[in-house]
Amino acid sequence: MKKPEQLVIQALKSAARNHQMKDAFLLSNELYPLLLKAARRYVAGEERTEAIAIAKNMSSKDYRFSLEFIGENTVLLEECQKATKEFMALIEELGKISMKQTVSFDLSHIGLSINKEVAYNHLLQLVQQANKYDILLMVSMEESSKTDDILTIYKMIAAQYDNIGITLQAHLYRTELDIQELVQYPGKIRIVKGAFQEPSTIAFERSEELNSRYLQYVDLLIKLKHPISIATHDESIIQVMEQRQYFHQANVEIEMLYGIRPDLLQSLKEKGYNCKVYLPYGQDWYLYLCHRLAENPENVYLALADILSTVLEDSSEGY
Ligand code: FDA
Repeated sequence: MKKPEQLVIQALKSAARNHQMKDAFLLSNELYPLLLKAARRYVAGEERTEAIAIAKNMSSKDYRFSLEFIGENTVLLEECQKATKEFMALIEELGKISMKQTVSFDLSHIGLSINKEVAYNHLLQLVQQANKYDILLMVSMEESSKTDDILTIYKMIAAQYDNIGITLQAHLYRTELDIQELVQYPGKIRIVKGAFQEPSTIAFERSEELNSRYLQYVDLLIKLKHPISIATHDESIIQVMEQRQYFHQANVEIEMLYGIRPDLLQSLKEKGYNCKVYLPYGQDWYLYLCHRLAENPENVYLALADILSTVLEDSSEGY
């Protein structure tokens, strides 16, 4: 029999992909604001202005940040154009207030779910706009069925512009070879464990073996002096890297998701390391919330507390 914790994880993963359930929550005048209260622990808000306000606050505390307008798997051209327009506006606004930081996104939000050409054209607009303001674009990595297309588009753009980086998932067996190829490009490489459920024929599960792969990839990038974002909340991995003195290097940063282990990131920042907060915003937060709850079932209790609380929790205060 499955443990209650496993049942919760399974239910959250299926809720994340269940459109009927999503609509039932999001179209309900009663449920929507309650869930939004829980989402706010991990999401800056629904509007760009809210995200920029939090980013400014984080920045005043010496954190770097990576802003993302949430969305993925967008299949209508008009919606992809709208998302691209929002990213253009975000980049321009950051540029005008001289915040030379990072903007992150999923290629399937700006066209990959239609075809590669749409995604490429939209990405080209974004990278040119970001280049004007000295802002870095960071491409997220999605399900393994999209890895080849994402890397193809990334390489085409990274061959022309150096203000673009890529995320790689340590859990995929292929990552070892991908790294060897991608270090030929100047772009920063963000190493994550991987958030998507993949078959064991192509990916490791959470395990010591995955952790040792993660460390092996970081070791390699450090040895090559390649710009790297170490994107994990795993304290044991962070401890090893700290012992190896990786965080003293200028082109190494530690990146964590907004609202997750702010205490840990704060303690690393106090040691003088480059610490970055991944700060998403936008109305499409449902799937993002489900992912964060499924990653750590204890977060379900926090969500319940947030929903029942009469005071609006501000996650940025935890940093
Ligand atoms: P792991 O999942 O093993 O967790 C280690 C420890 O961290 C846990 O024991 C717990 O203490 C803490 N922790 C982790 N998640 C938590 C949570 N939700 N709540 C509370 N504590 C938690 N993935 C992907 O597939 N493509 C991508 O593009 C990205 N992009 C990305 C950017 C950034 C900046 C980060 C930090 C992460 C991603 N991810 C991602 C997500 C990533 O793949 C992974 O799913 C999460 O980071 C969780 O994995 P950890 O490395 O933290 O380890």
